Amino acid sequence: MTDLPDAEPLIEVHENRDDLAVAVAGELVHRLVEAQADGGVPQIALTGGSVADAVHRELARLTVESEIGSEVDWSRVVFWWGDERFVEPASPDRNERLARELFLDQVDVDPANVHPMPSTESAESAEAGAAAYADELRTHGSGTFEIVMLGLGPDAHVASLFPGFPQLDADEIAVAVHDSPKPPPDRISLTLPCLNRARSVWFVVSGEEKAGAVALALADGTDVHDAPAAGVAGQAETIWFLDRAAASRL
Ligand code: 6PG
Repeated sequence: MTDLPDAEPLIEVHENRDDLAVAVAGELVHRLVEAQADGGVPQIALTGGSVADAVHRELARLTVESEIGSEVDWSRVVFWWGDERFVEPASPDRNERLARELFLDQVDVDPANVHPMPSTESAESAEAGAAAYADELRTHGSGTFEIVMLGLGPDAHVASLFPGFPQLDADEIAVAVHDSPKPPPDRISLTLPCLNRARSVWFVVSGEEKAGAVALALADGTDVHDAPAAGVAGQAETIWFLDRAAASRL
């Protein structure tokens, strides 16, 4: 395990899931406008799950309906995924599919800047897909991410890194995951060392069923093998965006 940066995580609590999604999407847009104003082409990592869906929907709405949203040049943002379900491309289980439908297809991205993880159609196995994605990151990545967004499972998993799984000790860039406790069983995930290269890590968590996982991940001394989220932090900042229910055990 690599040492995590020292900076204390910041915790931001919102009333409910809708307010949370609005706040995260607003902050993301704001950060991207700032990064682009300095001539940057920010690279960000998306995630899957229900909160991610809400954030994606809000990003599309902001782009069309708000002044700050319209200032983001989405064609100069590079998109990666923190994890993906290793299924066929058209499967409703695929994180990429909903991200495209709710967000990427609604704004003006450059298709060459969108880097979905391999599917069962483009890779022979999750292992081959993980190796191919690592190559893609080496070739088109910047060596870091401006922002990595992560959901959290009730078991404190992040991306597709689950408690007790051997992938938690992997030091490559991306890994295959089988027998995931959250269906579908086969997945590809970035590893902890890769996620931890991010400048900013944002956890986005909603709901009472996540409250115990949030508390465990944020407690001093939690072992990453018990709560994978405890092993992720940004180089410059780590923010936990929570709703009141998810924050209820802090
Ligand atoms: C996935 C995810 C996963 C997710 C959390 C939270 O592919 O399932 O990337 O890590 O972000 O499980 O998901 P919910 O927001 O749906 O609870």
